[in-house]
This record gives sequence, C-alpha cells and structure tokens, in this order.
Amino acid sequence: MNLEILDMGFIPKEISENLPEGFEDVENLANQLPKVLGNEQIEESVLKLEIHKDISNLNSSQLERAMLLYSYIGHAYMWGKKNEENIIPEQIALTWHKIAQQLDRPPILSYASYALNNWRLLNKEKPFELENIEILQNFLGGVDEDWFIMIHVAIEHEAKHILGSLKDYFFNGSFEIEKLQIALNSIKKINEIMNRMPEKCDPFIYYNRVRPYIFGWKNNPATPNGVIYEGVEEYGNKPVSFRGETGAQSSIVPMLDALLGVTHSNDPLREYLDEMRTYMPKEHRVLLNELDQWSMNNRKEIVKNLDHSHVEILNSIIEQVHIFRNKHLEYARVYIFEQSLTNNSNSNIVGTGGTPFMKYLDKHLQETVPSND
Ligand code: HEM
Repeated sequence: MNLEILDMGFIPKEISENLPEGFEDVENLANQLPKVLGNEQIEESVLKLEIHKDISNLNSSQLERAMLLYSYIGHAYMWGKKNEENIIPEQIALTWHKIAQQLDRPPILSYASYALNNWRLLNKEKPFELENIEILQNFLGGVDEDWFIMIHVAIEHEAKHILGSLKDYFFNGSFEIEKLQIALNSIKKINEIMNRMPEKCDPFIYYNRVRPYIFGWKNNPATPNGVIYEGVEEYGNKPVSFRGETGAQSSIVPMLDALLGVTHSNDPLREYLDEMRTYMPKEHRVLLNELDQWSMNNRKEIVKNLDHSHVEILNSIIEQVHIFRNKHLEYARVYIFEQSLTNNSNSNIVGTGGTPFMKYLDKHLQETVPSND
C-alpha cells in the first residue's frame, strides 16, 4: 500500500497555475468565464477554440490543470448555453476526453478539479489558513462560490494530520497513544472549519448561483439520455452519462471510515459511494480499496488487543466524525432541501451527483457510531 499519500492528505504536491504554449485560447476562455456566462456568450466562445490539442508533453500537474479548465468550460457550456441540444462540441469534447483517459477518470467536473487542484496561497510567505488561500477558477465568481470551495480545501489540508497520524498509529507497529491524540485534535479542527461554511456562503446564493454549474448528466432531468461528446470515437456518437461534482468524491471520509472501522450496510446508496471512487484520482482510489480490504480483514484483530484508553480515544474520534456528518446533513437541508421548497429554478431535488441525498446522508450519519469495543 502506498500509505505515504496519507501524510500529504489528498492535496497534490504541485498545482499547475498555467498551461504551456498552445493552450492560450483555453486559458483565456477559462479566465473570462464569469463574464462570458454573464453575457451569455458561451456557445460562440467555445466554437472559437482550437479543436485538436497536443497533450503529450503535459506533466501530471499540467494534465490536472488541463482537466480542470476543460471541465469548467464543459460545464459552463452545458449549463450556460441557450440551445437545448445535449451535445458537447468537439472543440471541448476531443481534448477533454483525451485528458480524462490519461488521468483514468471520466470527462466531467470532479472533486479533484473543483477543490483539490483549484487553489493557491495568497501570500506564499505566510502559512496555510482559510484567509490565506484563493481559488484559481470560477464559474460566476464571488465570495460565496469561493468560500464554498475554500472550506473544502481547508478541510482537505487539515485532514493530512488525522490521516497521517492514524496511519502511523496502525501501520508503524508502535500503537502510540500520542498519535491518536493528534488525530482527535485534527478532527476537532476539521469540525471547526466545517462550522464556518455559513460565514461567507449564503444558502440562496449557493443554490441559485453556485450549484447549478456543478451538476452532472446522470440522473438529471435536463439530460434524460445523457450527453453526446462530439467526435469522440470511443462513445460512437452515442450519449453517455456521468455523475456531477460532489463532496462524496473526497477520499477523506471513506478513508476515515476504513481506518476507524465504520461500515455502511449494503444498499443502493453505498453502491453510489463506491461508484464515486471512479471519479477520484487513481492513486487515491487504489489506496482506498486497499485500506478497505485491510479494514475488513485485519483491523478487528488489531483493535481487540488494544488498551481500553486507546479504544476510548478511537471512539471519541468516531464521535467527531458523527458530529461532522451531522453538520453536513444540516447543510444539505439548509443549502439545498429548504431552498428547493421556495424556489423552482433548479428544483430537481437530488444531489449534484444525482442521489436522493437526505435519506442517504442520514443513513450514513446513523451508521457512524463507536464500534471499537
Ligand atoms: C454547503 C455545504 C455542503 C452541501 C450543501 C453538501 C451537500 C452534499 C450532498 C447533497 C451530498 C450527497 C451526495 C450526492 O448526492 O452527490 C454530499 C455528500 C458528501 N459530501 Fe457534501 N456538502 C457540503 C459540504 C461538504 C464539505 C465541506 C465536505 C468536506 C469534504 C463534504 C463532503 C461530503 C462527503 C464525504 C459526502 C459523502 C457522504 C458520506 O459518506 O456520508 N461536503 N454533500
């Protein structure tokens, strides 16, 4: 298992902020997206993009940047255009698909592009904190959209402490109680960050200006048969369906479930979470699957032999994950469910990933209970 990833959390080592020569048209359009969307110019702007791009010289952080730009432009096109055809023109489709193949993820906006690779430090001399990061790419822009993403980034950044220390605890062979204490402090910090969402992300703005752009094509009434990626041979000019961007594509929570021994009973909702793994960066997905195996096969035996004081801290960490899921369920209610009751504009009451989410999030909350004694 490549457990070292956990010391970094899932924030990439390097985030590219600019593609090399040959991609100026894409960089410029992405940069102008808020204006282009505001002025309803997305269709004509996309048709001016060069159709064939050479991606063979892009390194891995540049490939991620290319994925981010094409994903933003692709979604801006789909949800900002005036015509009702569900066709992504070849100016986007061909290169988007090529990049997605290289990264082994579907050609759609996923969490890795929306959050993990979409930020930089405002002042590089200063440490990481919420007030010292800025978001690289927007749809419409504005503090609510930025803050929504910034909270995710800050949680991912903090998560390296809980994930790294739980990894040290279980896999170094020394089972040091200090590592569990670090993990407990870290999940408490994650909950403090989570609590700050309403400070600058207003539910009305989120529902009406942020969320509409991140929907996918699967289980979406606007794209009942999916979407055609024009010119992509592999799809044979037939529509395909992919899920939209969602926090369910973050590896933190499933990784914590595996390390803490939290399990979710088998039902269609768990299948959805497993499907979300195909939208994660490959190395995260591989590690997650391996940790799940470890959790199923080895963890119980290890925990059986632990001192009671250790088990107590492990259970306190699980209680904090429960608090996280509880706050999260509250946000799903306030930011989406309640908004949908007062507003018709995008009242399709499934998550951006396309699930009946209230039931599903509640089930996962109820299943997050201490199970170590
Ligand atoms: C206003 C804030 C938020 C709202 C409205 C929201 C909404 C949702 C919804 C509707 C789902 C269901 C998935 C789907 O249908 O695609 C979901 C899942 C999920 N979200 Fe969020 N989310 C928010 C913030 C966050 C944050 C900050 C994180 C941190 C990484 C996060 C992590 C997750 C996870 C891990 C899942 C899977 C649920 C589970 O395993 O229990 N969300 N979210």
